[in-house]
Amino acid sequence: MNDVIKVDVRGDVAIVRIDYPPVNAHGHPVRAGLLDALNRLAADGAVRAIVLAGEGRMFISGADVREFDQEPKLPSMRTLLDALDNSRKPIVAAMHGVAMGGGLELALACNYRVATADAKLALSEVKFGLLPGGGGTQRLPRAVGPELAVKMIVGGDPISGTQALAAGLVDEIVEDPIAGGEAFARRVLAEGRPLRRLRDDDSKLAAARADRSIFTNAATAATKRSRGLDAPKACVEAVAMAVDGVPFDEALTREFDAFVKLLQGDQSKAQRHVFFAEREATKIAGIPEGTRPRALNKVAVIGAGTMGGGIAMSFANAGLPVTIIELSEEPLTRGLGLIRKNYEASAARGGLTAAEVEERVNLIQGAVGLDKAGDADLIIEAVFETMAIKKEVFGKLDAIAKPGAVLASNTSYLNVDEIAASTSRPQDVLGMHFFSPANVMRLCEIVRGAKTAPDALATAVAAARKAAKAPVVVGVCFGFVGNRMLELRGKQAAKLLYQGVPPQQMDGVLTKFGMPMGHFAMMDLAGIDVGWRSRKDHGISAPIEDALAEAGRFGQKTNKGFFKYEAGSRAPLIDPEVETLIQETMTRLGLETRKVDDQEILERLTYSMINEGARILEEGIAARASDIDVVWLYGYGWPVFRGGPMFYADQVGLKTVAERLAHYAAADGDDSLKPAPLLARLAKEGGTFAGWRA
Ligand code: NAI
Repeated sequence: MNDVIKVDVRGDVAIVRIDYPPVNAHGHPVRAGLLDALNRLAADGAVRAIVLAGEGRMFISGADVREFDQEPKLPSMRTLLDALDNSRKPIVAAMHGVAMGGGLELALACNYRVATADAKLALSEVKFGLLPGGGGTQRLPRAVGPELAVKMIVGGDPISGTQALAAGLVDEIVEDPIAGGEAFARRVLAEGRPLRRLRDDDSKLAAARADRSIFTNAATAATKRSRGLDAPKACVEAVAMAVDGVPFDEALTREFDAFVKLLQGDQSKAQRHVFFAEREATKIAGIPEGTRPRALNKVAVIGAGTMGGGIAMSFANAGLPVTIIELSEEPLTRGLGLIRKNYEASAARGGLTAAEVEERVNLIQGAVGLDKAGDADLIIEAVFETMAIKKEVFGKLDAIAKPGAVLASNTSYLNVDEIAASTSRPQDVLGMHFFSPANVMRLCEIVRGAKTAPDALATAVAAARKAAKAPVVVGVCFGFVGNRMLELRGKQAAKLLYQGVPPQQMDGVLTKFGMPMGHFAMMDLAGIDVGWRSRKDHGISAPIEDALAEAGRFGQKTNKGFFKYEAGSRAPLIDPEVETLIQETMTRLGLETRKVDDQEILERLTYSMINEGARILEEGIAARASDIDVVWLYGYGWPVFRGGPMFYADQVGLKTVAERLAHYAAADGDDSLKPAPLLARLAKEGGTFAGWRA
């Protein structure tokens, strides 16, 4: 037996413990050791029952993700599951901590299951773009019924031990997995309970077999949010096999084939990339070993507008007290009112209890006057996007904030070093750029200034994580990573607009690609008047956008912009008035309409920003390509199944991306579209962004 599996024979009950730190993944050493242990115990006449448990913090976290892209090593999961299924001695899975993915599948192949009340049980494969390939889609519906099974398998989220007991997934709640598991096993022996096997028990399938709509309704509800994704569909099809009476072994084979197909597909590769990218992003370059984040017990947010309110909510959600500060009572009352309204809306949707609403609202104290920020460990400024105002606020905060407090700006574009220079403590200043709506969007770009101290940076990263955000450290430049790339996409979209390409065609291309909204719908959301006012201030014109604004079409806020909106709906609808307005403006300017196909639109809109991503990498504004992916995934809703723009570029092939860009640069006589030096070099060498290191 290998040292990963520990066997402890206590009279006629053997305790088998998996000890494979850090998370007891069922990697090759676990499978090999378990199979070996099961074979030995089968042959050991003194042993009459077996308890399977995990050492340390959990039962089994799931598969060893590092093995996904390697040659499969025997014994396979199927061999191990067969050994559990065929055991002549009762096996009790005793779960604590986490039992996910293949870990729960192993437990499902045991005869009995016990768990601690707070254990988290899930078939979470869908999060990697996969389906449970170890019988989970067949055994879980037999344990809990197909409705809950399809919900769990398509959603991938855990249920607690207590919920699992109610659902029939576990037989008993135990305090201690080993002692409780052993006691349970002894009772099984004493009572002469049968070798119960889920594979033989179709009782919970009967209702859905008699009325298939029971299953289809549950499946429809479960897949509501999985547009464009292959895995949830495959999960439903697999569970349907149990409902439709496909013989168990045949279903296992088909389930595994579906698993392999997903595993080898682009979507799962992209989703696994996302998983690693998010973890990589928390590794910050240039921070001395042993750097500790500063204490974080209290947060202050300056400005109770769109962003300030959402930021305050994010920290209150994490249980931190927040002071939100305004210039006067009026905007403060408005801001606090909106916060309450947002919480009440999530309570109405079932996301929060009434008590939780009160708890969170009470964590957010409103105040007038910056001096109320004096006791905060972290101060986040979210006032108007004007350098002079930001400098004034930071200058005042310098005199008010306690020593060592981290001073962050939520600026979208402004130079964080210049803001820092308005204080006597630039080492404590950085950017924390949240995305709208800030209580929902997970991205937080942490902007590292030239003088930002390592522990201030570490504090901001820790604070963002505490607020359940995905932090990405970026350097100072106009728009940082996300908005800087967005700018390039916007330039292409505007160019095509003035060639008569309808906004709905361009938006359609992006939403078909998987973006949550198109470029023009996004402008409607942000407000067309914002750019219009700023252009007027600077004496610049953009005839189509100006004409829209002058017609009172400010976007969603006036229910019409590039699109029209029905009251209370955010769905963009085509408006013939806009078509006329665009046509008239083009005629007036003497511009010609050009027919542009969807492929060109997609290439122009995505490759242009990828090209900027290459510049961002080369300049060191982002530390790695996967950080840029995280920015787009969590800040702009880039579809997970496409892994992020840089991952997508690698999948398309950098040679193709560079060639197409060069083609458009030549066609337009636009040098800004020429492949960036890094992209050109990687394309020539056959390299990838993922493989590139500074
Ligand atoms: P907003 O106009 O909704 O809110 C700004 C608030 O700051 C107002 O309520 C104003 O009364 C208050 N304020 C102004 N000066 C103040 C002072 N000296 N002391 C206290 N309060 C003061 O603006 P929004 O959209 O929330 O933007 C705030 C910042 O966040 C800007 O820097 C913006 O660029 C940035 N940002 C905005 C995003 C968005 O989508 N709206 C996204 C990401 C960043």
